[in-house]
Parts: sequence; structure tokens; C-alpha cells
Amino acid sequence: MAVPLIFRSSVMVCGASMCGIVGYIGDKNARTILVEGLKSLEYRGYDSAGFAVFSADGRLELCKTEGKISALEKKAAGLTGHYTCGIAHTRWATHGAATEVNAHPHISSDGRIVLVHNGIIENYVNLRRLLEAEGVVFRSETDTEVLAQLVAKFYEPGRLVEAVTSALKSVQGTYGIAVMATDMPGTIVGARNGSPLVVGIGEGTWCLASDKSALPAEVSKLFYLEDTELVCLDDDGYRTMSLENVEIRKEVLEFQYEIEHADKNGYPHYMLKEIFEQPRTIADCFRGRILPEQGMVKLGGLAAIEDRLRDFSRIVITACGTSWHAALVGEYLIEELAGIPVEVEYASEFRYRNPVIGPETLVLVISQSGETADTLAALREAKMRGATVAGIVNVTGSTIARESGCGIYIHAGPEKSVASTKAFTSQVTALALIALRLARMSKMSGSQGMSFIQELMRLPEKMERVLEQASAIRALADEFKGQSNCLYLGRGFHFPVALEGALKLKEVSYIHAEGYPAAEMKHGPIALIEKGMPVVVVAPRYGVYEKVISNIEEIRARKGRVIAIATEGDESIRRHADVVFHVPDVIEPLSPLLTVVPLQLLAYYITVAKGLDPDMPRNLAKSVTVE
Ligand code: AGP
Repeated sequence: MAVPLIFRSSVMVCGASMCGIVGYIGDKNARTILVEGLKSLEYRGYDSAGFAVFSADGRLELCKTEGKISALEKKAAGLTGHYTCGIAHTRWATHGAATEVNAHPHISSDGRIVLVHNGIIENYVNLRRLLEAEGVVFRSETDTEVLAQLVAKFYEPGRLVEAVTSALKSVQGTYGIAVMATDMPGTIVGARNGSPLVVGIGEGTWCLASDKSALPAEVSKLFYLEDTELVCLDDDGYRTMSLENVEIRKEVLEFQYEIEHADKNGYPHYMLKEIFEQPRTIADCFRGRILPEQGMVKLGGLAAIEDRLRDFSRIVITACGTSWHAALVGEYLIEELAGIPVEVEYASEFRYRNPVIGPETLVLVISQSGETADTLAALREAKMRGATVAGIVNVTGSTIARESGCGIYIHAGPEKSVASTKAFTSQVTALALIALRLARMSKMSGSQGMSFIQELMRLPEKMERVLEQASAIRALADEFKGQSNCLYLGRGFHFPVALEGALKLKEVSYIHAEGYPAAEMKHGPIALIEKGMPVVVVAPRYGVYEKVISNIEEIRARKGRVIAIATEGDESIRRHADVVFHVPDVIEPLSPLLTVVPLQLLAYYITVAKGLDPDMPRNLAKSVTVE
């Protein structure tokens, strides 16, 4: 598969978005293809779904419902015809409640235009007022319906592309859309600005999707739309054009269906599968990039800036959520190993404040999906200010990967669970490689580099040993499930691990959890400790171990219940903590890759003990492509 191993390629191969769009033209049953496509996007999170299909004789059927795709299938059971063209959508509500009337597709009040949309139309209120003043009657509260009504306003029979371009010129905001006209069965127009769209091509098959994982097995090639580009699909093939309706040529890439359709492989949830994939995925991240005999790494994706690596006086790392926690580990890694000042910035903050960066700054942008709106905006802000940008991304060909220009893919494979686990450890692995590369230019000797790499190469086997404790961690879950508050504490390299453990717990189990530097407890949080309150303390045996033990004693004195993550062989900690899980010894800079695993498992098992679905937590989406 022609997947660019590094960022040299200028083409893109995948996106991820908060909702899901699928479009299909071909000789298979469109209804089946569309629903299967939506199922591939389910893990992103949604609250309603729908589709619109044309029968061979040009009759349009529209079916939509709030709730899950299973509810949509039940509702569509009566549609037993053969449908050759259609569009479908899973909605993650932004404007308007998660109801059937607000679900997509939306149809214009004159019945001619059917449309699905990802993104946010920022000027939809004004547009709606203008259309209502012209007598248009709206059914829903959504910004999307405004778009459907606007296309209908400009529509002339047979000229759907022109109507869509005219409508989009009046729109401010982000969109990924698929549009059909009821008098043009067999034609789909797609357009992108800010919400990714991929076009799939097969033998007599033309598809559109917000992510390549929704493309059917018939697809063998694909290309991505750039912002402000459109595509028109029909039985004759496809045409791509600009908003000015000027033809555009696109580079087409190979696509292999099976690689994208990673399933649960027998695990009950993607989250557990992905936690157990980590020994392999961290190995996949460093494989082919380490030179053990030289104590060096080769990062082809950074080739474009290799000769300037010495020039950067400081590094800024920007990201969101779990990727931000990986960034924080990266700060400790790079400062410890390479002695270069690093600042970590929440992308959502960075993009709106006045950061002091310039040509002397290297900005690392971390994103699993490569589509997070805040992170993409921070990347663009950094480039505009003259900084050099490099991406650390999982989804090959995503927007952040493409716009970074250079960087490294973490090769963790599709991460389907909303809760990020294997991406975190692969991001940290990638940051360790970058830290080693920078360190070997200054502070680190060849032999030090060799021993660092040896430690890195032993991590997968050590991680397997941590995973062997899964059943012991599962046994603890029942005790937690009744809790409403939990604290996670760590020092140094393990402060970010405490933050990540807390995020995992709260985002999948809905138990409030807070990560804190262990020493910070006495400045406030210790007031929270009450009898039986669970406090997870990451306490491996490194420099500040004794101080962490003191923190544990402070908690025990207030009858908190301490769950400790300790170094294998440390039995003395059992005098202080109520429950102890051990991880194998490793050099401290790499220890977050091991200490995080019990926290991932704990969050997962508590969630399952509460009868919740860890793969699709409420209110969350896999990739937050809106502000
Ligand atoms: C992590 O478990 C969450 N799913 C969320 O915090 C996520 O890490 C964040 O939205 C960033 O996503 P990205 O890495 O795809 O940019």
C-alpha cells in the first residue's frame, strides 16, 4: 500500500471527524453499503443517524432516526428495494438536540435537495433569516438545514455543482458535505472546508466518506479533497473542481480495505484490544528507526529539517487531551536527555494567545487523528509566526500530517476506541526517539545512546509482563465502581502519567478524577481526602521515591485508600499502600510507558463493571474537528 512512511509525500490518506459521512454510487445495494459504512464510523461517537437512497427508477427514500444505527436499521426494514446511489450520516449534535428531525440527511422544503454535513456553519442564523424572509419554511433547528435550503435556492435542474458552489460562497464556517438532487438520481456532489472528505474509486464504484475506514471493499484507490475543493460523482466517474468550478487534478493513492477494517479480534471492546496491542505498537514505532550499534536513531520524516535541528533554541509542543499528556512526558524527556528548553501548550490556548515563537522555535504538533481542530489551528498559527513545525501523528495522510510538512508517523494502526491508549504510548515512544536524536547532537555519548536503545528494545517484553496483571486489576474494579471521586498522584515523569490515568477514568467511567503532582497535595487537594477515598499513586523507585512514600502516608493518615504503582521487587511499599501493582524496572525516562498501563486497564475494567461501553463514552467523539 502506497502509504507515505514519512511526511515527504504531499498527498493525504486519511481523516477523522466528529460525525460520519458516507456516499455511494455503484451496482451493490446502496442501503447496505451506506449502513455498513456508518457502522465503521460508530466508534467516533454520535447520537442520531440517517440515509437517503435512490432506487434504480429514480425514486428517493429517506430514513433517519435518533439513537444508534441499530435503530436506523430497524426503521429501514421496510426498504427492501435495490438502491444504486445514496448518502448517509451519523450526527454528533452541535446545533440542535439529538432528535429525528435534526438528524441528517436534511431535505430542502421544495423537496429537490438532500444533504448531509459535518462541521459548523457559523453564519447560519443570518442565512436562515434571509431564507425565511423569502418564504422558506424550516423544519429543524440545525445549521445544516440552512445549507440544504441555500443549495435549493440556487438550484437549476441538472446543475447541482453550480448550485452547491453558489451556496458555499455565502457560507462561513467548516463543512464536509455530500449533496444529491432529486431530479439527478445517480449524482453526488461532495465539498470540503475543514471537515475531511475522502473519495473512494473502484470498478464501477464511486464513494465519498469522512474517513477511509468507511469505504467498502470494492474501493481500490482513493484521494482526499483539500479545503474549498469539490467533487462530482456519477455513473461516468468523477470530476474535481474548485469553488470557482475550475477543474483540479488530484493524485490518486492505492487503498487496501483489510488494513483499515481492524476489528476487535475477539476482545469485548476496542479499548481493551488497543491496550493489549501496545507491546507491538511501541515496537512498530521504533522499528526501522533505531541504530543500536551506533546508539543513534534515523527519523526520515525529519530529513527536511535535519540540518537545522542544532539551530533551535527552544521547542514548543502543542496538542490536546491525551496527546497533551504525551507532550508533557516529551518535555521531561527532551529537557532531561538533550538539555533543550521545552514548553507544552494546550493547542486551544496556543491558537488564541500571543505566543512568543519564531524561526528559532521548533513546534512539535501531536495528534492521533491528525484532524483535531484546535491542534490544526495551533499548527497554522505556529507556521504563520515563522516557526518550524513537525508533526507526530497516527493517522497517515491526515490534515495535520500534511500541513506539518515533516514529522513522524507513530504507526499505532487504527485507534478505534474514543479513549486513546496505544496512541499515547506510541506518541511517547516517538518523543523518546526525538529526544535521543537531539541528545546525541550534544550531551549524550554513543555508549549512552546504545544503552538507551537497549532499554527501549526491552520495553515490549516488559509491557507484556504488566499486561499479565490485567485480571488482578480487574478484581479491583468492583471496589471502585461505586466511587464518585478519585485522585491520581505522581512526581516528575509520572506527573503526566497521573494526569493521563485520571483522564482515562473520567472519560470512560464518568467518575470524577483529578491528576496532581504528588507534592502539590498539601496545597489544597488533601482537603478532599476522606475515609475510603481512592488515591492512585504512581510510585516507582526513582529519585523522589521516599518523598512519594511520605505523600502516601499523608493520605493514609486521613484514611484515604492508596493504590500504588510500584517497581517490581519493591515489597516495602506494601507497608504504606493498601493495594500494589508492580511494573518492571526500566530507566526513568522510559518508565511512563509502563506505569500508564495499569491505569489504562483500571479505567477500562471500572467502566465495564459499571455496565458502560468504554468504546463510545457519552458526549465524546474520537476526533474533535470543531472548536
Ligand atoms: C483521549 O482519550 C481523548 N480521546 C482526547 O483527549 C484526545 O486525546 C484529544 O481529543 C486529542 O485527539 P488527537 O490526538 O486525535 O488530536
